[in-house]
Amino acid sequence: MIPQSFIQDLLSRVDIVDVVGRYVQLKKGGANFMGLCPFHSEKSPSFTVSPTKQFYHCFGCGAHGTSIGFLMEYSGLGFVDAVKDLAQNVGLAVPEEDRLLPAQRAEAQARNMALTDVMTQACDFYRSQLRSAGPAIAYLKKRGLTGEVAARFGLGYAPDGWDGLRAVFPDYDAAALVEAGLVIDKGEEPGANRRRYDRFRDRIMFPIRNVKGQVIGFGGRILDSGEPKYLNSPETPLFQKGLELYGLFEARQAIRSAGYVLVTEGYMDVVALAQLGFPQAVATLGTACTPTHVQKLLRQTDHVVFSFDGDAAGRRAARRALDACLPLATDNKVIKFLFLPTEHDPDSYVRELGADAFSQQIQDAMPLSQFLLKEVIGTNDLATPEGRARVQFDAKPLLQAMPASSLRLQIVRSLAQLTLSTAAEIETLFELVSPVSRARMAPPKTRRAAPMGLERQMIRLLIAHPALAVDLDASVLAAVAHISSDYAALLTQLVATCQAMGANASFAALAEQLRATDSDFDTVIAEVAAQPESDLDAVRLELAGAVRQTKMQAIKAELDRLATSGQSVENVRARYMELMSEQEQLRRQADAEIAMR
Ligand code: UTP
Ligand code: MN
Repeated sequence: MIPQSFIQDLLSRVDIVDVVGRYVQLKKGGANFMGLCPFHSEKSPSFTVSPTKQFYHCFGCGAHGTSIGFLMEYSGLGFVDAVKDLAQNVGLAVPEEDRLLPAQRAEAQARNMALTDVMTQACDFYRSQLRSAGPAIAYLKKRGLTGEVAARFGLGYAPDGWDGLRAVFPDYDAAALVEAGLVIDKGEEPGANRRRYDRFRDRIMFPIRNVKGQVIGFGGRILDSGEPKYLNSPETPLFQKGLELYGLFEARQAIRSAGYVLVTEGYMDVVALAQLGFPQAVATLGTACTPTHVQKLLRQTDHVVFSFDGDAAGRRAARRALDACLPLATDNKVIKFLFLPTEHDPDSYVRELGADAFSQQIQDAMPLSQFLLKEVIGTNDLATPEGRARVQFDAKPLLQAMPASSLRLQIVRSLAQLTLSTAAEIETLFELVSPVSRARMAPPKTRRAAPMGLERQMIRLLIAHPALAVDLDASVLAAVAHISSDYAALLTQLVATCQAMGANASFAALAEQLRATDSDFDTVIAEVAAQPESDLDAVRLELAGAVRQTKMQAIKAELDRLATSGQSVENVRARYMELMSEQEQLRRQADAEIAMR
């Protein structure tokens, strides 16, 4: 974990206007900057950046966040990488989250840089080799690719020789070449017997880039037929197959404008689809889809369409993808599965049946809910009790893997219908109803009477101006605890968080911290992002007013309780007097404040 104090420090040093301005053309408009939203397509600007809040907010699509959030959303970086990127720009060193010694860390960093450098040089070499490689060019042309698309994906050619890379790396014995997976050492003993040779020979080279655009691995396809068809970089410190998606870097813009990402299985599918009008495609690298893959995809878009062959292997792959998606399938995400006819992959399908037919397939893709039900029904006979029981048995782990959400509830309902049960029975049987999930599924809307309004108001004021929390003392929290429950816990937690951040706490830093630990505040953060700037003195007064009213209500509640408690007057007199005098004090305070306005 990067310490929160560092995040706070970082956010106070970077300017979100600069950060966003690197990618979005911004114009000053009033207190804010405006531009075209990079997260949805629009013709007139509804995207605002507030230098005071250090926050962006789109009135069109609701996207919002800090500089860190922006970088994560825009470039698909993870939190740590986004923080590192920003820190580098303002000359701060990120305190590391792991326990490596500084020396080890520096070493790892230096090694990764050396490896990235080696990979880049190799990539450039392969690209330059392609220009003069007649048969390779002919092969790509035969596959229908233009030079333009080949250039966009940085396709290259590894020449047919044992040590072609010697041309780029005069120090062919360098350790980095093995570590990067570019060469293979044969024979361990040093000296005469040690032989080293290029891993990739006479192959079309597909560079694999990370989200920053750095080359981290290669896939090499044989020309025409032969085994293995594709040779891939081994796992290296830079490259882990289960984490990377081929083409994600190249597809980012297209994913944004198409509004969805298409996940295929092959290198060729990605490149060919880009050529044929579907540049929003990426591919897993010959491995099953992992939750990390899904997470990476959902950082770019909330609509994912998986495409699989219609055969048994495709179905197995689809099932793995379904499993990987379940923990991340929330109500605002759309995840679909498209099954092509057995003999086709996306590339061959579009070539044979055309782009329109493929678009239609994408449109008609099976929603996650439907695929899940189809999977659990399988070959079970719904006409028998045993068959229905088996369906429920198979569905249990899948539904348990899903977050509590409306989507899960909908699936539970459908499953209940199919298996002659009720939704409540299934939820109990599957142990889906925990107190927490129940609270999340049914926010305390109906019970949001006046006192709730006050607490929510305080939550909103504190989120917008967390530094004001230092003025709140225990008596406020005691009063809050008195009058209600749901928001009280939230408010108490929020006050503690704000107070821990101290007098310099900012909205952006708090939003960042809450995002990391708690999503209960999301809606309020969005509200604050959208509201106009307010005068701090007015906010102070508003907060004081809310605090006072809360205390007033707590006192009233206690007075009521005393009156109906049935205790003798003698027993409660002292407390009664105390409460009355507190009430009087609060009234006077209120009068004074009103006079001040
Ligand atoms: P495919 O055989 O479907 O490849 O394997 P493709 O991309 O459609 O290639 P073309 O159209 O035949 O040229 C799907 C993916 O599985 C991995 C690769 O990532 C490939 O893109 N794979 C396949 C390998 O890693 N090695 C292999 O030998 C075959
Ligand atoms: Mn193919």
